[in-house]
Amino acid sequence: MNDIEFEVLRNFLKARSGLALTPDKRYLVESRLGPVCTRFKLGTLSRLIAELKNGRAIELEKTVVEAMTTNETFFFRDKVPFDIFQDVLLPRYLKERASTKRLRIWCAAASTGQEPYSLAMLLNDAAAKLAGWSVELIATDISTEVLEKAKAGIYNQFEVQRGLPIRLMMKHFTNTGDQWRISREIRSMVDFRQLNLIQDFSRLGQFDIIYCRNVLIYFDLPTKTDVFRRLAKALAPDGSLVLGASETVLGITDAFTLDPAYRGLYVKADPKAAGAQVPLARPALAGVR
Ligand SMILES: C[S@@+](CC[C@H](N)C(=O)[O-])C[C@H]1O[C@@H](n2cnc3c(N)ncnc32)[C@H](O)[C@@H]1O
Repeated sequence: MNDIEFEVLRNFLKARSGLALTPDKRYLVESRLGPVCTRFKLGTLSRLIAELKNGRAIELEKTVVEAMTTNETFFFRDKVPFDIFQDVLLPRYLKERASTKRLRIWCAAASTGQEPYSLAMLLNDAAAKLAGWSVELIATDISTEVLEKAKAGIYNQFEVQRGLPIRLMMKHFTNTGDQWRISREIRSMVDFRQLNLIQDFSRLGQFDIIYCRNVLIYFDLPTKTDVFRRLAKALAPDGSLVLGASETVLGITDAFTLDPAYRGLYVKADPKAAGAQVPLARPALAGVR
């Protein structure tokens, strides 16, 4: 792959998925797209890029985009965002939405499902308080491959050992050989859909809580700014946005402001947009057990 071909690939990935491929990521291209060359019998990366350039290889284009996404995830990843969900967000919206009894949650880069299923298990723990409520949990990702795994809800020993409290494993998973399957009850709580964040997502409607973690890090500044602008529209005036541990809005957007009490938790910045300016309860985090 020469410099011109690398540039073709870079432009293709940026336009299709928002992925900002920097020159130091050449090694990643070679390791991720080598197997795609083999699968499509293309021999070399140069031939693969030539195919992309002619714009007629739909299946190849989709496979290249999916191969270049990083799908790393695990149950209750980083813990704090889930403690916040249990101890701050659920109590907040149980109170704030008591009249409508309606709660809408969006997991915007769900990968293989561990993040939305972690939220679903916490919702299940709160089932008594949520009796009579309509709770929607929508989980989206650009990659249909990871979504297939997410929908199946089947994980290996290593995956269930990463972050999942033993209590929740015993409660919601059944073991078949070296596979663990999450219960139908938890699976049915999550509505998985394919969605590209760099495209219009206004059709999803408005959410009370959005988890958009560890995906914006792969985008360049203008793309991040644009996604934040549209996330702000997709969030209720008093809604909450949760970002990944290494992500921030600082220097990128003024649509959100950090809730100083909780790492990774953001609310809408505009006081007018924030409407009734819900006073934020500040409980200490007891944590998921
Ligand atoms: C590193 S994983 C993060 C998963 C989960 N949110 C977490 O924090 O554990 C990033 C996910 O973002 C998805 N992704 C990448 N670009 C995307 C895009 N343009 N639209 C939607 N999802 C995208 C990838 O397919 C991948 O599954």
